[in-house]
Amino acid sequence: MNEKLCVLAGPASKDLAKSVSNILGAELIDVELKIFPDGESKVRIDGDLDGKFAVIVQSTYPPVDAHLMQSLFIIGKARKMGASVCAVIPYLAYARQDKEFVQGEAVSMELIGSLFNSSGGKNIITVDIHSEIALSQFTVPAYNVSCIPLLANYFKSQKLTKPVVASPDLGGSARAEEFAKIIGISAISLPKSRNRNTGEVRIEESKLSADVKGRDVILVDDIISTGASIVKATEVLRRLGCGKVYATCAHALLVNNALDKIRSAGVTEVVGTNTVPSAVSKVDVAPAICDQISKIAK
Ligand code: R5P
Repeated sequence: MNEKLCVLAGPASKDLAKSVSNILGAELIDVELKIFPDGESKVRIDGDLDGKFAVIVQSTYPPVDAHLMQSLFIIGKARKMGASVCAVIPYLAYARQDKEFVQGEAVSMELIGSLFNSSGGKNIITVDIHSEIALSQFTVPAYNVSCIPLLANYFKSQKLTKPVVASPDLGGSARAEEFAKIIGISAISLPKSRNRNTGEVRIEESKLSADVKGRDVILVDDIISTGASIVKATEVLRRLGCGKVYATCAHALLVNNALDKIRSAGVTEVVGTNTVPSAVSKVDVAPAICDQISKIAK
């Protein structure tokens, strides 16, 4: 056990923090949470942090703003208690609003970056952050680790028929290609567009040239939120005569009964990670996080 190293289990990421502390052989310190009747959060760190290198693990999945504020409170308090803080934010909310897509929109990620930069954390680690632009909002050293190799390894051992990897949109093509390369198969990307005002997802079938007939498809995305992207992609792929459809992602937010909708669309299995604890958290991202911590904590 490294006496100087400790892992703080934020209320949103208790299991992941435990897994991180097991791999690092570091003390696990609990963070107590009280939610007041008006919705405000109060956190309390139950341990001695003076002179320690404290790894704080707290994801910001829904309720997004509560988890976000809790993470900032924990980082600030740990710093005041004398720790050198490494903030692990496995799922970083607001990273999708990294631009002014429609005139007048706030670039939410700019403020999120400022909040973390001034919170007292020395380093930040995220897992499969939505974009490089989002990552660039941090002025403290920020590292994004990929869980794509871990997800790909999960599928490596599955018996699939002539599998092909698909990204539901063109923006995710590099991710799909990385995933496919690990398994040793090919990747395609679907021409998805989203109406910025209504949120409606469309896939232009006429622009899709790949032959998926009789082939099992693994849809790979960074986030599954409402499931609309996966449902649309599955509908298109099934019309083209594909075999089974699997869906995998780093962050399975699964809001608004997304899992039911995805299953009803005909998806055989959904595979997510423990950045967002859920029924589909089948892959532990702790090894990827710990590799990065080991480099920083040297
Ligand atoms: C979009 O750019 C992201 O990579 C995901 O495809 C998107 O956030 C998924 O959202 P939903 O499940 O609501 O379609």
